Amino acid sequence: MARKTFIAGNWKMNTNLEEATKLAQDIVAAMGTVTDVDIAICPPYTNLSEVARIVKGSTVKLGAQDVYWEASGAYTGKVSCGMLKSVGVTYVIIGHSEQRQYFGETDETVNKKVKAALAAGLLPIICVGETLDERKSGKMDDVIARQTKGAFTGLSAEDADKCTIAYEPVWAIGTGETATPQQANEAHVFIRSIIKEMLGEAVADAMRIQYGGSMKPGNAKELLAQSDVDGGLIGGAALKADSFFGIVQPA
Ligand code: 13P
Repeated sequence: MARKTFIAGNWKMNTNLEEATKLAQDIVAAMGTVTDVDIAICPPYTNLSEVARIVKGSTVKLGAQDVYWEASGAYTGKVSCGMLKSVGVTYVIIGHSEQRQYFGETDETVNKKVKAALAAGLLPIICVGETLDERKSGKMDDVIARQTKGAFTGLSAEDADKCTIAYEPVWAIGTGETATPQQANEAHVFIRSIIKEMLGEAVADAMRIQYGGSMKPGNAKELLAQSDVDGGLIGGAALKADSFFGIVQPA
């Protein structure tokens, strides 16, 4: 099954309006007509409207970094799926390890967000991945299986088809330490087996699984060459158009 490579940039809590405008313009100039790779950029909420205006008409799609599952109401600080849709967002990152680590994200809240996103017509990028302790103590498979099952609980095959998974080993995020291509591929094969168990072979075969964690131009080619690595979710290297393009290019 040929899966189209999907590279997404997660800008995290970086870029003010001026910086985001410049970065989005540079990215559109460098890769706004690429069609053989799906490309998305996920700026902070405050820059979504402006970046939406910049990527409009290009092949670069807009993503958000999180969402809340309720539609509206007294939820100070939260942003709904409808709000994201209204400014032109296509993708939404859900369950990032930083949300899990610092902001109380659980497998249950991930599942609620995934369902709300799908109901609103947003495409979830669901993050899973183990910490170094979990890897060292042999709990890696359990953790990844639990997170994957949690995220996809109650989803139909049709809904699951709209999702992307990002395997992001926590120990590789922002550390300069990358999973080896073999380590990444093994985890991806395992995640795909969980999806197969839950949703069948066709969904598992079609599911795109991105790798995330210190992916950069120097290691992207080898990672993306693996059988089950279908793209990347890029942090630091997505903050400069040339290094982001250096990852898109080999893809
Ligand atoms: P880095 O590429 O900075 O390691 O971040 C990866 C990540 O967390 C993307 O969501």
